[in-house]
Amino acid sequence: MQTNLQTPIEIRSQIWKELTRSVHDKHHAWRTPVFSTLSIDGGVSSRTVVLRSVNESAGQLSIYTDSRSSKVLELRANPKSNFVFWNSRLRWQLRVRCEASILTEGPLVESLWQRVSQSAAISDYISASAPGSNLVEEGELVMNQKETVNYFTVLICEIKEMDWLELAGKSHRRAKITGESWLWLNP
Ligand SMILES: Cc1cc2nc3c(=O)[nH]c(=O)nc-3n(C[C@H](O)[C@H](O)[C@H](O)COP(=O)(O)O)c2cc1C
Repeated sequence: MQTNLQTPIEIRSQIWKELTRSVHDKHHAWRTPVFSTLSIDGGVSSRTVVLRSVNESAGQLSIYTDSRSSKVLELRANPKSNFVFWNSRLRWQLRVRCEASILTEGPLVESLWQRVSQSAAISDYISASAPGSNLVEEGELVMNQKETVNYFTVLICEIKEMDWLELAGKSHRRAKITGESWLWLNP
């Protein structure tokens, strides 16, 4: 499906609508983007994440993770990061260059944790062993018994630039979006 959107204002507005929808719609293709960081050895490290919130006016996207995960270590060393979204219905790819802030405490984290800790997702943030660490025994998954310790972390990603690509039969379209500026590019 190609959209009839023509102007940068229309397209930009639809991009933000789709991002916002993806947070609330579990089936939205943009709900699970690939998030990339710079690994400590200078390589690239990519993984799928769930987009948790979108703030258009602040130009921010956020995700939840475990503070002991590799991505957090990598972002502490270098906050530069990148999202890639693909929506086959719209035939839109969106690449977002950003810089991430790591929040492990404070009112925002506490209020989100109140909600997450009441859900099944609590187990994602309370395991006794760090993500990616070796299992001591095959099949072992150790939870913190009293759930008093959690590693819930919010990554707030400040958008620096977006690269939008629309695939269409004859004429693909591509643009670089930096703040309020819009630059059409050869696809
Ligand atoms: C559909 C899907 C959604 C995921 N969502 C998240 C997420 O929101 N946050 C997260 O930390 N890991 C998420 N993961 C797991 C990551 O892809 C990754 O395996 C894990 O975070 C460890 O990555 P790291 O060692 O590079 O930090 C998800 C995986 C899948 C397949």
